[in-house]
Amino acid sequence: MRLDKYVSMVLGITRNEARQSIKSGAVKIEFKNNLKNDDSINEITDVVYYNGKKLEYIKYIYIMLNKPQGYLSATFDKSSPIVVDLVKEYQNYNLAMVGRLDKDTEGLFLLTNDGKFAHNLTSPKKDLFKKYYVEINGSWSQDDITIFEEGLEIYDGNKNLFKTKPAILEILDDDKAYISISEGKYHQIKKMCLKVGKEVKYLKRIAIGSLCLDEKLALGEYRLLTVEEIEKLKNQK
Ligand code: URA
Repeated sequence: MRLDKYVSMVLGITRNEARQSIKSGAVKIEFKNNLKNDDSINEITDVVYYNGKKLEYIKYIYIMLNKPQGYLSATFDKSSPIVVDLVKEYQNYNLAMVGRLDKDTEGLFLLTNDGKFAHNLTSPKKDLFKKYYVEINGSWSQDDITIFEEGLEIYDGNKNLFKTKPAILEILDDDKAYISISEGKYHQIKKMCLKVGKEVKYLKRIAIGSLCLDEKLALGEYRLLTVEEIEKLKNQK
């Protein structure tokens, strides 16, 4: 990898800023002198320092974000804030989103540059359950549990009618519940709720398969997944 690319990736800065750092002498590599932007470095074996601090290169990044409302699930948008804006430190890692949440939905959101990992988790064949905390205008009834379990007919994002796979409704209170679905069609939870006469007023994703949202993360905060969490998701049936 080129040195300026490496520095911009690891520090989360622009290529121009990386070139400035190299020019100013802030970047050093063990056993190498006269560094140039296009020097080719081995990101595993070369030891690179920035202002005396050793840089750590991570090939695959797996980020758990507590998505706030107001952010689009997108990696590029001209007019709205996007989820990637919240993880600026990793902006040069070519991150892909693992699924989507509506702009007004909060909660567990994963970003990674491991395309296979993202694909595996979002594949419809996987039937991976995603759990949501939901507040509605209206009141849940016990019948809704059966209706969700049996599946109901709603329109997907392409206006095709489809029957939802079995979903789990756990009523917590008159207007509060957990809903778990193994699909991810456009506005699916909102449409399922509307079908039984309830309007969603607050929606938060709290789990994807075995992975629960870290309660220590405030809205807009993120952390890297642990090795155990990554392995568990990779092996998720
Ligand atoms: N279902 C919805 O309606 N919205 C989301 O953001 C996620 C699931």
